[in-house]
Amino acid sequence: MKEKRLGFATRMGAVAASVGSAVGLGNIWRFPYQAGDNGGGAYILVYLICVILLGIPIMMSEFVIGRSTHKNMKGAVEQLTPGSPFKYFAYIGVIGALLICGYYSVVCGWVIEYLWNSASGNLLGHDPEQYSQIFNSFIGSPDRCVLWTVLFLVLNFLVLTRGIEKGVERVANIMMPLLFVLLIVFCVNSLLLPGSMKGMDFLFNVNFDKLGWKGAVDAMGQAFMSLSLGVTCLITYSSYFKDDSPLMKDAVTISGLDTLVAILSGIVIFPAVFSFGMEPGAGPKLIFEILPTIFQQMPGGTIWATLFFVLLFFASITSTISLSEIPITFMVDEYKFSRVKALLLTAVLMSAVAVVSALSFSSLSDVTIIGKNIFDFLDFVGPNFFMLLGGLATAVYVGWFLKKEVVHNQLTNYGKRSSRFVQPYIIFCLRYLAPIAIVIIFLHYTGII
Ligand code: PHE
Repeated sequence: MKEKRLGFATRMGAVAASVGSAVGLGNIWRFPYQAGDNGGGAYILVYLICVILLGIPIMMSEFVIGRSTHKNMKGAVEQLTPGSPFKYFAYIGVIGALLICGYYSVVCGWVIEYLWNSASGNLLGHDPEQYSQIFNSFIGSPDRCVLWTVLFLVLNFLVLTRGIEKGVERVANIMMPLLFVLLIVFCVNSLLLPGSMKGMDFLFNVNFDKLGWKGAVDAMGQAFMSLSLGVTCLITYSSYFKDDSPLMKDAVTISGLDTLVAILSGIVIFPAVFSFGMEPGAGPKLIFEILPTIFQQMPGGTIWATLFFVLLFFASITSTISLSEIPITFMVDEYKFSRVKALLLTAVLMSAVAVVSALSFSSLSDVTIIGKNIFDFLDFVGPNFFMLLGGLATAVYVGWFLKKEVVHNQLTNYGKRSSRFVQPYIIFCLRYLAPIAIVIIFLHYTGII
C-alpha cells in the first residue's frame, strides 16, 4: 500500500512547525555557551553575518528543492536533475541527522532532569557555586543520564507516531509564543541585576582579538545548527508545504524569529553570569549552572523554573521531531519502508548514538576522538562538518545546477510575487559567498590555511 504523505493543515502550521524545528536547544543552550567560549561580541557579529549571507539563502534553497517536488533531497534531485550526483548528499543529511539528534537528545535529558527537580522543589536553594557541582555530579551518573535520554526519545517517537500534522502543529502553535514571552520576562529580570551591563558589554562589544579561527568556524556552524540547515531537514519539511506559501517571506520570518530567540537567550544569561561573578566560558554546562542562580533570586523562583523547563522541553522536542523526520521520510520515500518500520529503525539507531553520548561524561569519559569526548565530538562534527557540508552541497546545487526557472517559480509562486531584488541576492550568495566561505573553513580543517 502506498503511504500517504502527511501535510500541514494551514500555512501557519507549516511556518510554526519550521520555527519549532529551528528554535530549540541550539538557541537557548548552545548559542550562549558558544558565545561565552568565543569571547562574546565578535562571535555574535560573525554569527549574524552568517545568518544573513549564508543562512537565509540556503534556507530558501532548501525550500525551493522541497516544495517544488514534495520529495526528500534524493527524490527531489532525481526529479529536478536526473542523473545528478547531488542526490547522494541526501545520505549526509540522514547520517548527520542521526548523529545530531543522538547527542542532542542527551541535552534534552538534562532538561528533563532539571524539569523534574524544579517541579519537585529540589532545584533551587543552593549557593551559586554549588550548581556547577550539582550539574557535574548529575552528568557523571550514568544511570540517570541514560534514563532521561531514553525517556526523551520514547516521548519523541510517540509524538511521531501521531504524524507531523497532529503532533508538531499543536505543540508548536501554543508553546513557541509562550516561550518567547517568558524569555522577555527573564531578560528584564537579568537586566535589572546589579552589574548587568558588564554582560551586555560582553555580548555586544565587538573585539576581534578574542575570535580567531575557532570562533569563526563555531559561529558559522552555529548559524547552520540554529536554522536547521544542511541536513535536508527543511527540504523534508518544505516538501509538506502548500504550493501557495510565500517562501521568501517564510524564510525571513523563520530566521528572524530564530535569531531573536538566540539573542534574547544571550541577554538572559550573560548579565547574570557577570552579575554573579561566574565564568562565561563554562562550556556546555553554562546554562545549567546559571539558570538556577537566576531563578533563585526571582520571587516564585520554583514556578518560573518549572515553567521554563517545560517550555524548553517542548522547544527541544519540536526540533528532535524534525530531525527524526529526515531519516523516516527518506526510508519511506526511497526504500518504500512502512512508516512504522522507518520509525522503529530510526529510533533504534538514534538511541544507540544517544546512549553512547550520554555516557561520555561517566563510563565512556576515557574515549576521546580528536581530543574530545564522544558528546563534545558530535557537538563539533554535527554542526561544523555535516551541516556545513550539506549546506555547501545545497548552495552549489541550487546556485549552479538547478534551472533558474525552478528557483524563480518557487520564490515567486509562478510569477505571482516579485523577487526582483531577492532572487539576484540569493543566487549571488548561493553561487559565490556560501561556497567560498565553507570551502575556506574546510581548507582550514585540513591545515592548508
Ligand atoms: N535548529 C535546532 C535548534 O536550534 C536543531 C536542529 C538542527 C533541528 C537541524 C533540525 C535540524 O535547536
